Amino acid sequence: MNENSLWLKRWENREIGFNQAMVNSFMVKYFDSLNLSEESSVLVPLCGKTIDIAWLLEKGHAVIGVELSEQAVIELFDELGVVPAISIVGELTLYSADSLQIYVGDIFKVTSEMLGKVDAIYDRAALVALTTGVRVAYTKHLRELTDNASQLLLCFEYDQSLMNRTPYSVEEREVRKHYEEHYDLELLTREEIAGGFKGGLAAADVVWLLK
Ligand SMILES: C[S@@+](CC[C@H](N)C(=O)[O-])C[C@H]1O[C@@H](n2cnc3c(N)ncnc32)[C@H](O)[C@@H]1O
Repeated sequence: MNENSLWLKRWENREIGFNQAMVNSFMVKYFDSLNLSEESSVLVPLCGKTIDIAWLLEKGHAVIGVELSEQAVIELFDELGVVPAISIVGELTLYSADSLQIYVGDIFKVTSEMLGKVDAIYDRAALVALTTGVRVAYTKHLRELTDNASQLLLCFEYDQSLMNRTPYSVEEREVRKHYEEHYDLELLTREEIAGGFKGGLAAADVVWLLK
């Protein structure tokens, strides 16, 4: 089974432990370091049905999401209490309402024309959801899609030899390899996760600002 089918199965089987009940506290704390004006547009790649989107909309941003699972997107709009207009754009389906647009499909099928102007990217559990080779293609695609828009990037770091599944560990060296040539990178915080991942595996939350 390829990676995309695995994600769709995960949604079908409700294996969605990554979905947070509360707005992400690192986003709340650090989002303003992107220095965006209210109406700026924010791309949320691999967005699932994250509640972070509600927070971004409340702040006045236009939000563009991309998500493989249509089920996730239906639930997202349901939970926002908004009825979407649904249309077909290229190989993707677009769910939209007011300042929210979510493309359903593979991010690699999304083009910069579809997205229009993107002022910033919020990457939470997106880069770390992908396997090593796909991460190289994803970071390049993301840069090309957005003309190197600024990013708030949330990663995890842990000993990858002790757990080989999502979320993957994406360490500083790798973040620099993907992005250093194109952005100024600032490490905003690195914080040990109390109790680590399931089973007590030591892990840290790491937040990057890419400008
Ligand atoms: C770990 S989840 C994170 C979701 C969201 N960012 C959050 O914080 O809750 C990764 C999401 O990426 C989606 N996904 C994986 N590969 C994708 C791809 N190639 N294109 C679009 N979405 C993808 C999955 O369906 C899943 O919902």
